[in-house]
Amino acid sequence: MKIRRSIRRGPTRGCMKLKFGKKVFTTSAGTLVLHDVRLTDAKLLNEIVNEDCVNQFILFPKPISLQSTRERIAKAGKKIVWILAELDGSIAGSADLTPYLGRSSHVANFGIAISQKFQGKGIGKTLLKSLFSFAKKNGIEIISASAFADNKKALAFYKHLGFKKAGILEKHLKRNGKYLDLILITKEL
Ligand SMILES: CC(C)(COP(=O)(O)OP(=O)(O)OC[C@H]1O[C@@H](n2cnc3c(N)ncnc32)[C@H](O)[C@@H]1OP(=O)(O)O)[C@@H](O)C(=O)NCCC(=O)NCCS
Repeated sequence: MKIRRSIRRGPTRGCMKLKFGKKVFTTSAGTLVLHDVRLTDAKLLNEIVNEDCVNQFILFPKPISLQSTRERIAKAGKKIVWILAELDGSIAGSADLTPYLGRSSHVANFGIAISQKFQGKGIGKTLLKSLFSFAKKNGIEIISASAFADNKKALAFYKHLGFKKAGILEKHLKRNGKYLDLILITKEL
């Protein structure tokens, strides 16, 4: 049976470029460099997602293996944009953006994690603003994310950046046997 080529190719990703490049900022906390994640960053990024203050607010409970972080990095530049933040040469955290497909390819979903010792220095804000400006230049019109209902810090941070609550998925998460709601947030770029 002949299958038409357009059907076989599957859903389209839109025009979103997935390589960010590099940007340098001089901030009151030091020199902040943002660039695409490299495989050599896997170990330190893996340590961040296993920090208690970060891990309690992400989907996968610790321990998250180094191998799974490596596998995710291998998708960077192909399926996701993943930017690393370095403050004065030390890895401080990262943010990633995943464009939706087909009729939702004007929308992208993001995640962010800043290491505890680097939080509150304006890194998260600069990182997301740069990621969003890159996304906008590449055709993304709406960005979305989700946060654990008890992640007061992240919810205050997102509100500060102009996000609106788009919905609540009740009992969508379970942490240590206790249900938690997931808050969906969204913003038009
Ligand atoms: C939430 C998180 C990304 C914020 O990043 P950060 O680098 O610490 O935040 P910044 O220092 O850039 O703060 C930016 C703004 O958010 C606001 N903000 C940050 N923390 C806040 C808090 N606890 N309460 C109120 N506002 C807060 C500040 O007003 C700040 O604004 P300003 O620059 O005008 O003063 C970071 O704390 C983090 O990675 N947490 C753990 C993982 C996590 O929760 N990820 C999100 C999953 S949804």
